[in-house]
Amino acid sequence: MDLNGKLALVTGGAGFIGSHITDRLLREGARVRVLDNLSSGNPDNLNLAEIDLHQGDVRDDGDVRKAVEGVDIVFHHAAQINPARAVENPLEDFEINARGTVNLLWASFQVGVKKFLMASTNVYGNADMEVIPEHYPTLSTRESLLSPYAASKVCGEAYLKVFNDELGLDTVRLRYFNVYGPRQTIKSESGAVAIFTLRALAEKPIIIFGAGTRTRDFVYVGDVVEANIRAAREDAAAGGVFNVGTGIETSINQLAEQVIEAVGARVPVEHRGERSADFMSARADLALSKKVLGFEPKVQLAEGLRAYVEWCRQSGV
Ligand SMILES: NC(=O)c1ccc[n+]([C@@H]2O[C@H](COP(=O)([O-])OP(=O)(O)OC[C@H]3O[C@@H](n4cnc5c(N)ncnc54)[C@H](O)[C@@H]3O)[C@@H](O)[C@H]2O)c1
Repeated sequence: MDLNGKLALVTGGAGFIGSHITDRLLREGARVRVLDNLSSGNPDNLNLAEIDLHQGDVRDDGDVRKAVEGVDIVFHHAAQINPARAVENPLEDFEINARGTVNLLWASFQVGVKKFLMASTNVYGNADMEVIPEHYPTLSTRESLLSPYAASKVCGEAYLKVFNDELGLDTVRLRYFNVYGPRQTIKSESGAVAIFTLRALAEKPIIIFGAGTRTRDFVYVGDVVEANIRAAREDAAAGGVFNVGTGIETSINQLAEQVIEAVGARVPVEHRGERSADFMSARADLALSKKVLGFEPKVQLAEGLRAYVEWCRQSGV
């Protein structure tokens, strides 16, 4: 789909990733509407002169119906994103991430939205593979779906598949790995990059729970935006599920070192006891994203961390 002149709805558009998508959509010549309940999002992230902001909730049928009116394409980013909170309150997590997604899909289908993209997550858990492809089983292995958060995301994903295959609404599922970059805050208590950077900027020790040998695939927000734009433009993406990462593993210890270097502070790293039974490693297989979307991440971790540190300093978070 050519985005020029189209009306795009970004749910969760006042948040970290969604707001970068709104900026890019405006540059692509799209008209942009945002649906956000501002529970963690911030209107200061938005160019309010250009954007039609609907303050509302994806769980509310009336809010969702108004938000999808006249829309050509949906970028669904509104979510409960904190895995620990999902453990404490799985029903709330389900209501927002699963039911909210079905609410939006159904309303979108009824008004004739042409394409619907959803931000999903790394749902592979402790997959016994060096790099993890999209076809790794999520429901039939012990390793996958280690939290209610992953379960609610896969539930939303299942509905995207059905709406695409059976009802004829083009949908695309994008499985983000660990996203970082400007506008990421620690409001939702997730994101090692944000937590470590803000500690280092405050000249406080960086705390690592456990040995720090767990690995993650850290992807810069600008690359995630690029994956969305490619998935929106590319007709062959319809019905697909795509990993969005870098294909590079970084241990938590290495991340701490790189953050300290980017900040230029001499803060110590302290290890404390393991806190949660989180998964051991993550590295996205990008073969499918590359083949269908032509997606290739551009920003190296050191460069992305410098951009994040600069934003933290300028915005005074
Ligand atoms: N940040 C990451 O590393 C990461 C990794 C994998 C997937 N994701 C997914 O990307 C999307 C965006 O995440 P983010 O990191 O930008 O988080 P964020 O918290 O900054 O953004 C989420 C936005 O959704 C809004 N929101 C929350 N509940 C809502 C509701 N019920 N109705 C309407 N709006 C609501 C919040 O106010 C916020 O603006 C989410 O779907 C998340 O699951 C993020």
